[in-house]
Amino acid sequence: DIATMDWPALRAAVSACTACSLCKSRTRTVFGTGSPRARWMIVGEAPGEQEDLRGEPFVGKSGQLLDSMLAAVGQSREAVPAGQQVFIANTLKCRPPRNRNPAPEEMAQCEPFLVRQIELLKPRIILAMGRFAVQALLRSDAPVGKLRGRVHRYQGVPLIVTYHPAYLLRSLPEKARAWEDLCLAASVVEQQEAAA
Ligand code: URA
Repeated sequence: DIATMDWPALRAAVSACTACSLCKSRTRTVFGTGSPRARWMIVGEAPGEQEDLRGEPFVGKSGQLLDSMLAAVGQSREAVPAGQQVFIANTLKCRPPRNRNPAPEEMAQCEPFLVRQIELLKPRIILAMGRFAVQALLRSDAPVGKLRGRVHRYQGVPLIVTYHPAYLLRSLPEKARAWEDLCLAASVVEQQEAAA
């Protein structure tokens, strides 16, 4: 049962998963990357072509933008001190063919993996990027623009909604807002550390 798995078991379960038809077209599953002790958790949509080939999230163009935005708030997916580490995951662990949108039944089948990742990580902040991450975590169909700019909660963990980097690549004016969102996330984590 996914809800009781530890990190290695969860990783193995994702790579062996055949719960939906995406298992037939995937090259590799994409569990996520970063430290299991990360304080920031980033949740995107689904693997794209590069991610499917490499088995790692956000390695294409969106990933380069994500990495540079994270670097600007002192965060990294690499093995850096704990306070600077992020864990990056997606709502779907397999690539939808031709990068089509995740289907509701795929989201439903895959969700227990993300739920368990968050339970095990116990991050100090979750950054939900784009509408599919928002649908999965907040059960909301409201547009990102309506939900960003304030602190939500997911199972007690503060959650910030922001634009997906792929959207930012097409809509540069929103980059300033995404930057505000990252600063809000950083300040939420700072407040927790000051209170601890
Ligand atoms: N877009 C996503 O949402 N996730 C990835 O891993 C890559 C691109």
